[in-house]
Amino acid sequence: MVGNRSHMATIRDVAELAGVSTATVSRTLATPQQVSSEMRRKVLRAIRQSGYVPNLLARNLRRLESRTTLVLVPDIANPFFAEIIRGIEEVAHRNSYSVILGDTQRRARRERAYSEMLLSRQADGLILLTGRVPALLARKPHASPIVIACERIDGLVLPTVVIDNQRSARVATEHLIGLGHRRIGFITGPPGNVLTRDRLTGYRAALAAAAIPVDPALIIAGDFSVASGIAASRHLLGLASRPTALVASNDEMALGAVQAVKQAALRVPGDLSVVGFDDIRFAAVCDPPLTTISQPRQQIGRSAMTMLLARLGNPHADPEQIVLPTELVVRASTAPPGATVTPSRRPASVLP
Ligand code: RIB
Repeated sequence: MVGNRSHMATIRDVAELAGVSTATVSRTLATPQQVSSEMRRKVLRAIRQSGYVPNLLARNLRRLESRTTLVLVPDIANPFFAEIIRGIEEVAHRNSYSVILGDTQRRARRERAYSEMLLSRQADGLILLTGRVPALLARKPHASPIVIACERIDGLVLPTVVIDNQRSARVATEHLIGLGHRRIGFITGPPGNVLTRDRLTGYRAALAAAAIPVDPALIIAGDFSVASGIAASRHLLGLASRPTALVASNDEMALGAVQAVKQAALRVPGDLSVVGFDDIRFAAVCDPPLTTISQPRQQIGRSAMTMLLARLGNPHADPEQIVLPTELVVRASTAPPGATVTPSRRPASVLP
């Protein structure tokens, strides 16, 4: 605090203490990356000594910006999204942005409420992890700074960060074929979703390349939830000619599949090999540890936020599309058909 206790320190006090102009103090606060580290130290020390509290709200109002990013997630309870959000937050924080999270639960009303925040400038930009543009923004999707992550939206050219879902599902299926499986089940994502379609296409492509006919009875719809993984797997295990392996379109459903196998007093991988998709944190520690497609989740988040900042800086730049690599992580939930390995004794390995 400068002077007596009732005096509210101002930017002038900071400038005086630091021996610089008020413009320099403002610049240091607004764009710290554009001043030298020595200047940053000097100004921050003066801020501490003076007790100055910058009025960010007033500054943002002057500039008509909120320094806030809105992120819409379809299901906050799915651990897959936690690390993506961590990556987004990391870049946002580094650039003095806050993150507001909207858990839409795939409901149009919630999407609408959050879209209003963007339109009323309570947020500067929007990152969509939901795979669809909310109806309120859909008529003019290019008018707002929007970045799409994890999913693509057919016919819409917006900045996007994705993985190659087709190729990744194909690699997962080829892993099972390589182990000798020929009856391979597939649990899809929710109907109408672009990931559902792409991952199913990859599964079919792997079977076609190995001259294994697609049996529609082995393709069961899920919705990315554990419960749907259990239900779909129970159905597959009840077939007269049941599969010896399955690919689930995400890890939550794969964990559901493992549970269904255990409930049927069968074993993974001896009776059913299971491959997931995502490599959520629990994939490595479940019993048996899950073979899965690992997505670079934090990197997806970091790239999405970096793209949004670029968009805010230059709204007219051509939208970029980034495709990040995935890898198959082989753990103990997969083995040749009928294998009698003790899952917990099998070492985990990573394939390039
Ligand atoms: O687990 C949820 C799924 O939806 C993931 O596989 C991911 O790709 C996401 O968008």
